[in-house]
Amino acid sequence: MQLGELLTPGDVIWLEGDLGSGKTTLVQGMAAGWGSADLVTSPTFVLINIYRRPDRAQLAHMDAYRLESAEDAEQLDLDYQMEQGPLIVEWAPRIAAALPAERLRLQLSAVDETRRHILVEPSGERYQEIARAFKAAVYGNS
Ligand SMILES: Nc1ncnc2c1ncn2[C@@H]1O[C@H](COP(=O)(O)OP(=O)(O)O)[C@@H](O)[C@H]1O
Ligand SMILES: [Mg+2]
Repeated sequence: MQLGELLTPGDVIWLEGDLGSGKTTLVQGMAAGWGSADLVTSPTFVLINIYRRPDRAQLAHMDAYRLESAEDAEQLDLDYQMEQGPLIVEWAPRIAAALPAERLRLQLSAVDETRRHILVEPSGERYQEIARAFKAAVYGNS
């Protein structure tokens, strides 16, 4: 089981971590697990990428790196994107005020060249459930 498989419309994944900590790479895994064969690239310049599944469901992948504030994010109509499918946001702290209080926060950091650390912090029942299922799959406990 992969984290992406658990995602449904309205779900928000908050990603933070330095440049090179592995955010985009993680999104590649989540999009594949969710069921899209689309190529996942960094939306640093386009701000938002939309990936599709064969059933036409969508996954929105946003990068807030170039945004100054939550007001900037409002133009991207995040509420609409969240209705259409899950939303994953790189550099989420930059637009914190534009995102729902309930989300799954994943904080990435590089341990060394080949290893990454990931902190999983759910807020709200929905995300506690997702985090539990994710951790059970990763560590094999329940
Ligand atoms: N889990 C991981 N383990 C080892 N290397 C990784 C991992 N995730 C990403 N990397 C490598 O780190 C570099 C930066 O990854 P990227 O996903 O673009 O980071 P970010 O989006 O946070 O800037 C890439 O060279 C990638 O191959
Ligand atoms: Mg990135």
